Amino acid sequence: MQINPLHPLFAAEIIGLDTSAPVTPEIVAAVEAAMAEYAVCVVRDANLDDQDQIRFSRAFGEIEMPPGAEASRRPGVARELFDVTNLDANGEIAPSTMDPKTQKILEGFHTDSPFNTLPTKWSLLLGHIVPPVGANTNYIDTRAVYQDLPQATKDRIEHLVAVHDLFGAFERRGVKFGTEEMRKQFLSVPHPLVRTSAGGRKALYIGWHAVGIDGMDEEEGGALIDELYAFATQDKYIYSHKWRQGDLVIWDNRCTMHAATPYERAVYQRDCRRTTLYEFAEQPAGSKAERVAV
Ligand SMILES: [Fe+2]
Repeated sequence: MQINPLHPLFAAEIIGLDTSAPVTPEIVAAVEAAMAEYAVCVVRDANLDDQDQIRFSRAFGEIEMPPGAEASRRPGVARELFDVTNLDANGEIAPSTMDPKTQKILEGFHTDSPFNTLPTKWSLLLGHIVPPVGANTNYIDTRAVYQDLPQATKDRIEHLVAVHDLFGAFERRGVKFGTEEMRKQFLSVPHPLVRTSAGGRKALYIGWHAVGIDGMDEEEGGALIDELYAFATQDKYIYSHKWRQGDLVIWDNRCTMHAATPYERAVYQRDCRRTTLYEFAEQPAGSKAERVAV
């Protein structure tokens, strides 16, 4: 297994990892170590089918089940996989029904499933079909972001808790999103603003879903979130991943953010499938965490 850094701050590619072979304790330890250091790892040439992806992912944690009714799912895509595609059930490009303002919000930097009571551990996204132009995924190392924050800001946020609210985040940007039924599913959830990452470094935990600070008035909390988001999304913290077919990109949601970038979705096919792992193998009784994953 060869590991090549892809950015001065984080992110690496892993060459020579045979994902079709049994996932031995040695492989688990090597990938966990690479993730603890780089936070985003690109396994090249991981041409896995859905069941292989599930098997590989389960070696690192329990899989969160994606939301959505069975009837709305693309036939042939395993239930455990979040389907990132512009294809319909027949494999043809489906016309987009999303309005541009909603699309723009969805392309903001975020972590996956911050509306679960526990943050997710990793997301593993496999590129089956990738557009030749566009559709990069941009990543930010929030450990590096935290490290660079002024000391006064670090002191201020050390014990603060951010409120993550999917629907509130849309409303804050003037967009009505989803149905009342969906709203009941995606609850407002508090998460500490500062986390300790797997490698031991502190990381900022925010994203566009964050709307304010627990116990702070709306305006002041929103302003602090916006200030931190603006600081974190500076170009120097961003690794832009240009997809190759067969890339399995693994990112640690606890110390990175990511954002989709546009592509000509009426022209190019895209078929990427994601498994998402819980932070812990076992959820506390009554946890909301098993409900959703986006
Ligand atoms: Fe995401």
